[in-house]
This record gives sequence, structure tokens and C-alpha cells, in this order.
Amino acid sequence: MTSLRYQRLYVNIDHVATVRQARGGTEPDPVAAATLCERAGADGITAHLREDRRHIHDADIQQLAATVTTALNLECAATEEMLRLAEALRPAAVTLVPERREEITTEGGLDVMRATDQLREAVGRLKRAGVRTSLFIDPEEAAVRAAHALGSDAIELHTGQYAHAPSDARTLRALADAAALASSLGMAVHAGHGLSVRNVGPVAAIPEIEELNIGHALVGRAIFIGLAEAVREIRQAMDEAREADRF
Ligand code: PXP
Repeated sequence: MTSLRYQRLYVNIDHVATVRQARGGTEPDPVAAATLCERAGADGITAHLREDRRHIHDADIQQLAATVTTALNLECAATEEMLRLAEALRPAAVTLVPERREEITTEGGLDVMRATDQLREAVGRLKRAGVRTSLFIDPEEAAVRAAHALGSDAIELHTGQYAHAPSDARTLRALADAAALASSLGMAVHAGHGLSVRNVGPVAAIPEIEELNIGHALVGRAIFIGLAEAVREIRQAMDEAREADRF
């Protein structure tokens, strides 16, 4: 069996900011958390700046842009405000996500079949600014083809359905098929949402997926074993799944 290409782990640190915002002070600091994650082996840091600034704030993004030494992946909606910020800051990557104010977390992928003009413009502007683009989409053939038509460098497959029903083989198959199609079209494939040390293995083993974005379960796990250890633990689970080469 051949061993699969290294898979990058990006840690989503929004959830550290959520704990900070519960009291509205300065602790815990998501920027300090990002540094700690990098030292523990994270390949990049992901932060979602929401329109309502419910967790990550503009000052956090500014500081992350100045201090992250791996790669900063800014998650945001394709709005004028966010595009201007991304153009000024030029993080390594921007992942465009849908955003509804009333949602607790990002519930589904982008509507890539309908919001085409807005997304095409956003992808074009980011590329012109030298920022790598990724579109967060559901693992469906039509969405992958639409993302490709929009010219994105990468897609991020929404793993939420898999995370809710990991024993339903269809949820994993949908991810594997979408990943294979996207890769055959020349796009880089990322994945994330709801992944944890318990369910990450089968997704990590999908050969075309080169990057995972993991946040909530990892930060939750950090309460018990510490942030550095939680990063190392999930890193190990990813490596073991890829070495086993199950696909
Ligand atoms: N990727 C995207 C686009 C997301 O919106 C989120 C949620 O913050 C994640 C990955 C990480 O999901 P989770 O926090 O459930 O690990």
C-alpha cells in the first residue's frame, strides 16, 4: 500500500473567541491560542469574521494576520465589507461561506448555483489580490461543477452531514465522490465541519482531501487535555487514517 500525501490541519479558533465573548473581556485570547496551535503542529489557522462579530473581531483578524507564521485562512461571506478587508489584509487564503444571522453555525454550503455573479466577482477580486480562494460547498456533483465554473482554486466540502450520521455510508461516499470529481477538475479539496478525533479517520483517509478545518470539537477537547495535546491528538488520528490508506 502506498502512503497518502500529507494532509494539512487548519485549526479554527473561533470557538476560543466564543468563550471570551461569553464574558466580553480579553480572555481567552484567540490570537494566543493560534500561536499555541501552530507550535503544536497546526499547518494553518482559520478564523471566521462574521457580519455580527459574535466571536472573532476585526482586531483579532488584524493581529492574526500579523502573528500567524503558518498560513491564515479567513472565512467570511462574499460581501463588499469582507472583500475590502481581505483585499487590504491579503491573508494566505479566503474561504467564502454562506451566512445567516440567525444560524448557530454555518449550516450548509454556499448556494453556488444561484449566487453566481456575486461569487464570481468575489473569487476574481480575491485572486487579483493574490489570495487563494476556497468555496465552502455541500458534497454534491452540481455544486462541485459550479464551484469549478466560478474559477475557485479550492473547495471546502461541508462534512456536517457525515458528522451527524457517520455510520450512514452514503454520507462518506458523497464526500469521496465530490472530492474525486473536484480533484479531477483541477481544484484543491479541503473539508470541515463537525469533525472530531472520533469521526475524523474516514474523512482523513479520502486521498484527494488535502486539508481539514477543525474547530469546535478540538477546542472542546482542549478543556480536558489542553489545546496543544488536542492538536497533537487529532493530527495523530489524521496521520493514522492516511497511513492505513483505506480508500
Ligand atoms: N469550515 C467551515 C467553512 C466552517 O464554517 C466551520 C465552522 O466554524 C468549520 C470548518 C469548522 O467546523 P467545526 O467548528 O465544527 O469543527
